[in-house]
Amino acid sequence: MGSKENTSQNAPKYKRIILKLSGEVLRNKEKGETIDPNVLINLSKELKAVHDMGVQVGLVVGGGNIFRGLSGAKKRGVDRTTGDFTGMLATVINSMALMDCLEKMGVEVRVQSAIPMKEVAEPFILRKAIRHMEKGRLVIFAAGTGNPYFSTDTTAALRASEVNAQIILKATKVDGVYDKDPNEHKDANKYEHITFFDALRDRLNVMDSTAFSLCMDNNIPILVFDINAPGALQKAVKGESIGTLVE
Ligand code: GTP
Repeated sequence: MGSKENTSQNAPKYKRIILKLSGEVLRNKEKGETIDPNVLINLSKELKAVHDMGVQVGLVVGGGNIFRGLSGAKKRGVDRTTGDFTGMLATVINSMALMDCLEKMGVEVRVQSAIPMKEVAEPFILRKAIRHMEKGRLVIFAAGTGNPYFSTDTTAALRASEVNAQIILKATKVDGVYDKDPNEHKDANKYEHITFFDALRDRLNVMDSTAFSLCMDNNIPILVFDINAPGALQKAVKGESIGTLVE
């Protein structure tokens, strides 16, 4: 990126990002909707804004609003592998919903699925995904890694490593990483910046251990932030201090 662009107030700090969106963000608990249309529209607007800034965006969305593999296995006695595949299919549903909404707003999108389902989406092909991004298309990586026993956080870490993303933006419902659970402890403190080593030492569970070690080993910083705060995604790609940066 040229220095001219960097001096502008609107210039993104990152040229290529992986945005990990928790499936839970899409849900409206009060109305009992798995995918809230208003949330979908607001998220797509935020995504369009960063896309319009020229940022190459790879999106990984979870499926927890529809089905959660691990808790399905624990609570309902579903076989773990079956549960995980159900969760992967849930991410495809969320990916299709986001694709549809984004394309209606004029953002060109390509969905690539880690589980081949060619009538529904392109298969995941790394070189094609990178080419799509270079051509200004937002790429949604669906169906997790295509394997059971891996989370969508691990998918984000894997795809970020593969496409050489500069950062993973982990969009959640909480505004960062705390030293203890802020819902249970009033005196919980939020970290603005923390090293991988300290997060590991203090067992802060920024991501599951597979995802976390992939990021650490491949030097991919993780920014944990609250996607519901308006403009947060733009601030994140501009490198403004929001959420918690783990690096
Ligand atoms: P370029 O080759 O860079 O022009 O990329 P492109 O994605 O525009 O071209 P391509 O001909 O590969 O794809 C055209 C459209 O078909 C796009 O919307 C793709 O997402 C879609 N597409 C490509 N391959 C598949 C596939 O295997 N399955 C499904 N369902 N759609 C596909």
